[in-house]
Amino acid sequence: MTSAPTVPPEIHRGLAGVVVDTTEISTVIQETNSLTYRGYPVQDLAAHRSFEEVAYLLWHGDLPDAAQLREFTARERALRPLDRTTAEFLVRLPETCHPMDVLRTAVSFFGAEDPTEDDGSPAANRAKSLSLLAKLPTVVAADHRRRRGLDLIQPDPALGYAENFFHMCFGRVPEPEVVRCFEISLILYAEHSFNASTFTARVVTSTLSDLYSAVTAAIGALKGPLHGGANEAVMHMLNEIGDPRRAADWLDEALASQRKIMGFGHRVYKNGDSRVPIMQEATDRLVARAGDPEAARLATLHAALRHAMLTRKAIHPNLDYPAGLAYHLMGFDIPTFTPIFVMSRITGWTAHITEQLEHNALIRPLASYDGRDQRPVPAGA
Ligand code: ACO
Repeated sequence: MTSAPTVPPEIHRGLAGVVVDTTEISTVIQETNSLTYRGYPVQDLAAHRSFEEVAYLLWHGDLPDAAQLREFTARERALRPLDRTTAEFLVRLPETCHPMDVLRTAVSFFGAEDPTEDDGSPAANRAKSLSLLAKLPTVVAADHRRRRGLDLIQPDPALGYAENFFHMCFGRVPEPEVVRCFEISLILYAEHSFNASTFTARVVTSTLSDLYSAVTAAIGALKGPLHGGANEAVMHMLNEIGDPRRAADWLDEALASQRKIMGFGHRVYKNGDSRVPIMQEATDRLVARAGDPEAARLATLHAALRHAMLTRKAIHPNLDYPAGLAYHLMGFDIPTFTPIFVMSRITGWTAHITEQLEHNALIRPLASYDGRDQRPVPAGA
């Protein structure tokens, strides 16, 4: 009897176009090229709300009222300081350690220190999420200063999330306009459905592992230059090009040698990233405020490369393109850019961890085998 020929399975390399689950947290609406968090357009949230309100929204499903926000921010502010053991442990890491590795190690350390690590209840996970939201900026700022040979500055509970981060990095809070541009970037970076790092967190969670393990893995996924690491790569690329007049020639050479141009392209958005216009406006405000030739050179180069990329390849910038330049203009060094992304995306990751646990199914896809045919194991020597 002959068996029916098997139909080769359809391969979805990179899971492109595959819908693996439902989510209530956010969505990209392809028709209007827009992004919503819990139903609210992200542009409107960035225009009218604080990052803390957006964090609350992602976790609780609705924006907080005044009393809820007061309680939420009070708890977040109280959780910011690092205990002495953590601070001493982080200082002992090699000075060459990339801040993303410091952050990943810190989250792992927080997990090891937390006596409730194995309790995956929603209440426990919510408490852990808030603690990470509060403490990650303290870790990032301490490391930012460590690289300059400076001591950690304690968080200030009188300051909002964005203001306090500047205070801990630089010992001062810049003008409200700069803080607002930073806060806009945090709001835009907070959540983006099943992106690679969020999906990583969901995969780890789907095995019923703990929240710290899921976040540690997500940080590892975000670090790569095809994902969150692109905001750092953008600035390295602008520094490599240097002269705005070189932008088009540089791009031609880079494309001819098959280089990926950092800060351009997106798996989901094919006609432009909906977050870019609002971040670009914020970056333009920073350039105008700086009012110096160096900022003007960078802005001209940034615009020239964007124009050349659109002309040559019709590929639009993604959020990392304006955000990378914005963080440079705010005074952060390049290795701090992706950790700032983590400080924001921790909200989206942990919202997804909670959602995954609400209707969990182990995430375990299949692969089509194209290796050697079955063969006998030869006798040992
Ligand atoms: N530079 C040059 N060519 C590009 C770029 C780019 N940045 N992005 C896409 N392309 C080209 C590809 O070479 C490919 O061309 P081909 O059809 O001739 O082979 C075509 O556009 C389709 O690209 P894919 O790689 O299939 O798109 P995919 O969805 O897999 O990749 C990705 C998306 C990884 C983001 C890609 O655009 C890229 O590498 N960009 C640079 C890194 C980056 O900016 N990442 C940040 C993502 S957004 C975020 O994390 C906030």
